[in-house]
Amino acid sequence: MRVLLTGAAGSIGQVLSVGLADRGHEVVGLDLVPQPDGLDDGWHTADCADPDAVADVFEAEFAESSLDAVVHMAGHPGEQSLPDSLTSHVVTTAALLDAMVEHGVRRLVYGGSNHAVGYTPRAGLADGLLPVETRLRPDTFYGVAKAGAEALMSLYADRHGLDVVSCRIGSFRAEPATVRHLATWLSHDDCVRMVDAALTTPAPGFAAIYGISRNTRRWWDLAPGHALGYDPVDDAEGWADRVEPRPDDADENAVVGGEYALPSHERPAFDRA
Ligand SMILES: NC(=O)c1ccc[n+]([C@@H]2O[C@H](COP(=O)([O-])OP(=O)(O)OC[C@H]3O[C@@H](n4cnc5c(N)ncnc54)[C@H](O)[C@@H]3O)[C@@H](O)[C@H]2O)c1
Repeated sequence: MRVLLTGAAGSIGQVLSVGLADRGHEVVGLDLVPQPDGLDDGWHTADCADPDAVADVFEAEFAESSLDAVVHMAGHPGEQSLPDSLTSHVVTTAALLDAMVEHGVRRLVYGGSNHAVGYTPRAGLADGLLPVETRLRPDTFYGVAKAGAEALMSLYADRHGLDVVSCRIGSFRAEPATVRHLATWLSHDDCVRMVDAALTTPAPGFAAIYGISRNTRRWWDLAPGHALGYDPVDDAEGWADRVEPRPDDADENAVVGGEYALPSHERPAFDRA
């Protein structure tokens, strides 16, 4: 497939640029910053929060060729003010969705987050597994924005018949480093497997899946991902001997969002002078 990958200069984006190309996709990168050395795909330096800039990118692509799908990984991967969070995750997604509808691009794979459901306690889960149907329960304004992006994509799936997969990513890292990561880790290779499956699964409509590896200590349900063809291979358990215990481990493991659900992440909604 010919794929527009936003956030292509970021940590996930750079892994996907190479990994999706290895799986036979043609990747066109988009980011706020210029193309990093070592990537040789097509490239657009643009702000996804600017609908005119996004429209220009689509115009340029469709003047030369076409796009089959968008993988949206652009966005600030942490807590900000509420307006900044909404801009980074909801406004960017809206600009892309409008351009997709205008040009008939039918598939969006989204870099969603566990923080959309981050305040969900682990205690009391049926079968000990967190279902994707659990109510949206954000732990931060970041999580609110990720939940908002899911609601927006659901709207476009229903209104325009788009296929959208929101991958609620856990902890994307080369290696797990904390006790929480032993449950929430998403390896680089599994991230590529996940996005490839989300791109190619037939007609998912709107779907949410948990973006984690097949960690022995996992407690977020992988079945919705399996149903779309995401079969993770890696397991954080191989690093368990090297992970040092920390005082916050128990609190971080009591809720989906880990440290984001702890008082250290509380802040006002606005950056007032
Ligand atoms: N890293 C994780 O463990 C994790 C977990 C859950 C969700 N996510 C989500 O995955 C996505 C990618 O995360 P990451 O870890 O690669 O972050 P990153 O900061 O490494 O990369 C994000 C990239 O997006 C670009 N970007 C930001 N705003 C943009 C905009 N308005 N227009 C164009 N480009 C923009 C940045 O320049 C950067 O290159 C984010 O949406 C993040 O919230 C990441």
